[in-house]
Amino acid sequence: VKTGLETLVLPAGLAGAEAAARRLTAGGLVAFPTETVYGLGADAANAAAIAHLYAAKGRPAFNPLIAHVPDIAAARRIGRFDARALRLAEAFWPGPLTLVVPKTDDCPVADLATAGLDTVAIRIPAHEVAQAILRAFGGAVVAPSANISGHVSPTLAAHVASDLSGRIDLIVDGGPVAVGVESTIVGCFEAPMLLRPGGLSRDRIEAVLGAPLARPPVEPGGDDSQPLAPGMLASHYAPRAQVRLGAQDVAPDEALLAFGPARLPGVDAAVAVMNLSPSADLDEAAANLFGYLRSLDAKSPRAIAVMAIPEEELGEAINDRLRRAAVLR
Ligand code: TXA
Ligand code: MG
Repeated sequence: VKTGLETLVLPAGLAGAEAAARRLTAGGLVAFPTETVYGLGADAANAAAIAHLYAAKGRPAFNPLIAHVPDIAAARRIGRFDARALRLAEAFWPGPLTLVVPKTDDCPVADLATAGLDTVAIRIPAHEVAQAILRAFGGAVVAPSANISGHVSPTLAAHVASDLSGRIDLIVDGGPVAVGVESTIVGCFEAPMLLRPGGLSRDRIEAVLGAPLARPPVEPGGDDSQPLAPGMLASHYAPRAQVRLGAQDVAPDEALLAFGPARLPGVDAAVAVMNLSPSADLDEAAANLFGYLRSLDAKSPRAIAVMAIPEEELGEAINDRLRRAAVLR
């Protein structure tokens, strides 16, 4: 790992976008906001930069990256879109959706970034800062979430700094992100497949397809050797404290991550309490999820107890992240 780098933090804006583009061109690592979470960008065509990116995150090299581009024309230089993939792209891009499609013959994305697969994951982010950086840079940018591998994803520039300061070149600070969970990943195979629930709910995708999304043959995370969504490792998004799901009470040495208006027994004695959404709004809960996990973790409770969250709309992505955070390590 290249450590001891002087990590520069710049506000978003024209100067920030131009500095980001220069660092990317020079093979540097640049964190920037997208509408889902902060990403850690590198030039998708520069294998050395991508090797630094894997090292900075401590990310296993079998876990491929998402290529970010500013528009559909740029996406089609990287991946082959059939009619269904194009329909999803036109319906939801720019936005919190990633499509996995076959690579084009002259795909500029380095093999290291796709972990040797013949498919590539592509996303057009909606965030204006991400768009400005992609347009100023002019090429595709691979960007995983800007956290140490396995840790909670960053929704603020300060989260990026606390994980990666000294390991990356630049953080562009665009304030808090809007969605708060990563993009939904759809594999555009014979049957379009939900590889990762995320910031675009399943029902909206199925409404455009007119058919239900297929499930991966092995539940992602159930078996790490399963190649369809190799990044869906069982333990991920994990705070230091143990996470206890479906809490109906809270112990005095626990912190509580609440959801909705109900008050649990023990809440007054808990180490700390934060409510993802007192009005039980799932979009608000998603936006607060990762930041609240980090804040509660900072109080060093024995465990973080989490109230049940409905498995609908963005609740599917929230519960996916919480189940991975709760895996015993
Ligand atoms: O919202 C997001 O998607 C954020 C922002 C920064 O864009 N990025 C993000 O990247 O979440 P990351 O690296 O944390 O997650 C990428 C996921 C991994 O689970 C990886 O395995 C999967 O995408 N992936 C990448 N390429 C793939 C491919 N060719 N086939 C299947 N899964 C792929
Ligand atoms: Mg990630």
